[in-house]
Amino acid sequence: MHSSYLAKPAAPIRRGPFVPAALAFALALAGMGSGAADDAAMIEAGRELALEICAKCHVVAAGQPPPVLRPPAPSFSDIAARPDLDEAWLRAFLSRPHGGERRTSAMAPFLLSASQADQAIAYLMSLKPQ
Ligand code: HEC
Repeated sequence: MHSSYLAKPAAPIRRGPFVPAALAFALALAGMGSGAADDAAMIEAGRELALEICAKCHVVAAGQPPPVLRPPAPSFSDIAARPDLDEAWLRAFLSRPHGGERRTSAMAPFLLSASQADQAIAYLMSLKPQ
């Protein structure tokens, strides 16, 4: 019977025990779809976060109001351009209160939430020279 090929995929879904597996598979597929659009949203969220918090001390984007910290902290474009700077380093730096462990740091101690750190990292990494 030729139609059995078409009927097969629907069968497991109707049977209770297979529903969670089917659902998990669908969710996994949805998760894999996190592509350029999600990245762009993440970078934009990081840019907004940076303009709100980090711009008080750093130049984080062209055209922002001047930082209040004098002298300003290094600009985000300068930080991003450092060849040794990568996601792992940023994550380590931003997951500790700034200035806490680094006694010589002039950066005020404050802590970002994990999701805020993700956004800030996405934005900083997007500023890396291509
Ligand atoms: C109160 C001022 C202040 C704020 C707010 C601030 N920074 Fe900084 N930041 C500094 C100063 C000063 C330095 C340079 C001294 C240092 O490296 O610790 C710095 C350095 C850095 C560095 C480079 C560290 C290094 O070792 O080169 C990164 C990355 C950074 N800041 C990220 C951020 C991010 C992301 C935010 C916003 C979520 C932010 N900063 C907010 C003052 C600030």
